[in-house]
Amino acid sequence: MKEFKRTLITSALPYANGPVHIGHLAGVYVPADIYARYLRLKGEEVLFVGGSDEHGVPITIKAKKEGVTPQDIVDRYHGIIKESFEGLGISFDVYGRTTSATHRRVASDFFRRLYDKGEFIEKTSEQLYDEQAGQFLADRYVTGTCPHCGNEHAYGDQCEKCGTSLNATDLINPKSAITGNTPVMKETSHWYLPLDKWEPRLRQWILEEHKEWKSNVYGQCKSWLDMGLQPRAVSRDLDWGIPVPVEGAEGKVLYVWFDAPIGYISNTIDCVGDDWEKWWKDSSTRMLHFIGKDNIVFHCIVFPAMLMADGSYNLPDNVPANEFLNLEDDKISTSRNWAVWLHEYLRELPERQDELRYVLTANAPETKDNNFTWRDYQSRVNSELVAILGNFVNRAVVLINKYYDGVIPQRGELQPIDREMMASVAESVKALTECLDNFKFRDALKEAMNIARIGNKYLADCEPWKLIKTDPERVKTIMNLAAQICANLSVAFAPFLPFMCDKLVKMLGEAKMSWDMLGSFDLIPAGHKIGEPVLLFEKIEDSVVEAQVQKLLDTKKANELEAWQPEVVKKDVGYEDFEKLDIRVGRVVECSNVPKSKKLLEFKIDDGMGGRTILSGIAAYYKPEDLIGKEVCFIANFPPRKMMGRESMGMILSAVNADGSLTVIGPQGEVKPGSTVG
Ligand code: 2FM
Ligand code: ZN
Repeated sequence: MKEFKRTLITSALPYANGPVHIGHLAGVYVPADIYARYLRLKGEEVLFVGGSDEHGVPITIKAKKEGVTPQDIVDRYHGIIKESFEGLGISFDVYGRTTSATHRRVASDFFRRLYDKGEFIEKTSEQLYDEQAGQFLADRYVTGTCPHCGNEHAYGDQCEKCGTSLNATDLINPKSAITGNTPVMKETSHWYLPLDKWEPRLRQWILEEHKEWKSNVYGQCKSWLDMGLQPRAVSRDLDWGIPVPVEGAEGKVLYVWFDAPIGYISNTIDCVGDDWEKWWKDSSTRMLHFIGKDNIVFHCIVFPAMLMADGSYNLPDNVPANEFLNLEDDKISTSRNWAVWLHEYLRELPERQDELRYVLTANAPETKDNNFTWRDYQSRVNSELVAILGNFVNRAVVLINKYYDGVIPQRGELQPIDREMMASVAESVKALTECLDNFKFRDALKEAMNIARIGNKYLADCEPWKLIKTDPERVKTIMNLAAQICANLSVAFAPFLPFMCDKLVKMLGEAKMSWDMLGSFDLIPAGHKIGEPVLLFEKIEDSVVEAQVQKLLDTKKANELEAWQPEVVKKDVGYEDFEKLDIRVGRVVECSNVPKSKKLLEFKIDDGMGGRTILSGIAAYYKPEDLIGKEVCFIANFPPRKMMGRESMGMILSAVNADGSLTVIGPQGEVKPGSTVG
């Protein structure tokens, strides 16, 4: 395997049109941070680059909707995103933005270099144009009917119902999202990167030279390459973005997916200045892109083709992309607000950063889509972090304080049980390192937790609290070794749970740690004084989780209400049709549940004509006793109908609410039973 001197870690630049959520974190930022922290602990030279992606059409759409400028939108969300990443301890060396002056210059120069080398082809094509708005329509600005599934609200770039990616010109009955008008076709010219030219090199580089890539990544690349690559437009007709630096290109900007990955370069420059080339061009630097699966093609095919076209850059060494995280069994969605937003989590569950990092890593969608639920969050925190890790450290530190006033005792001769425990720790340490090296963070975390499990078992087997009366010398050895396990935990968990590790290191009074210390049982010398026990984790109470679940239920309800539209107005009828219905007011005299029916209530109605029985399917929405004495409207001239063996003489009228629930209709003032309604 090739030896590298340093590692450049990039993590996808999130769009600055909304905050980041747990899906982003589990897929990209937590794994990237774990890896960066791991390499730093190994003493390697690392640069961890992040930043906001501040161009693209959705930002302009949001700005338009809110009546503000795109710059206002990105200023707002860049701030929220940056601050929330800091709050979670994502240890970027730089967190930049693509509206920075450096980025504008770097992206513009990159385009110009390729342009001057003749690496683009210029093509004229017909695109959709909104004559009233006087502008070409980006795919996102066009809606219409999906040619694949018939969804009438498909976007020009993708149908969200069937997931097919589209071109706006594929849509049936396209409409401009700006004015609602039907767009016309108009000629426009753009620059294209001929991906087909790079296809043989890309095939060789990925399919032959990077068989070690994760199978989801390799497989997606292979299927793109097997379909055959086409030239891809790298400019757009839009007024938000980096102007195309070519004469005669007024009104055209760089396509967001052209400028965004160059953001990794500009942010590197903002971080290290003139030294940036060693991170991008020196062949002893390796580059890793941490991304979600929707970004694979851009990072494995399009951006590498751009780098190949330039010719002076390194290509990524690996792209450990993840699949998606769902929330409570439903796809995370920014537009439906179906997400756990990081900035809200940090506010609502303060000082619980590591709990989230832990659960997201334990459930990371590394090989397939995965699911986050609040119940699982609670159970992992309570039964793993509190009951295994926190419990072990607490027991060890409490006993050392109790028996030795916090001073680590000298250990004596080792017993077989000690050696077994040490061998098990060594095994876990080895597996942990191997997993980290292979980007298997879930398994790595399990191995780290295994060290705490081994510690708990060791104390439970040795029972120092009993031995202290009969064999205090032996207890010295046990507690010395327990202290060494604690110190190992402070290293093993450092990439994953940095906040907990800071506390633990302080509690143990340790000096600086490094990864190669892991596995040693001489991390804390005898005679060293440790601090008082501090709880590392606290249980998550039911009420906390219930509040979060309720918040999601409220979101679901709000979404349903928003999506609700009154039923399509029925066909016109004449008064003579309406007149045929005998609608009347009645007073409910008795009301009871119908045995064996969840739906039906049985009403005895005073109808002013001697009374009648009506059955109505509203049991789910009312308690029978609440309706007694109420006035309701009913249809008096429906023929009798048998339900559950009982006869119903008419129909009680209800309104159907947006969520499908029913509300009985009655007069607003007092009305004599039997009165007609018309
Ligand atoms: O999918 C996204 O959220 C993009 N903004 C990722 C860009 S990654 C990189 F190329 F900047
Ligand atoms: Zn569709």
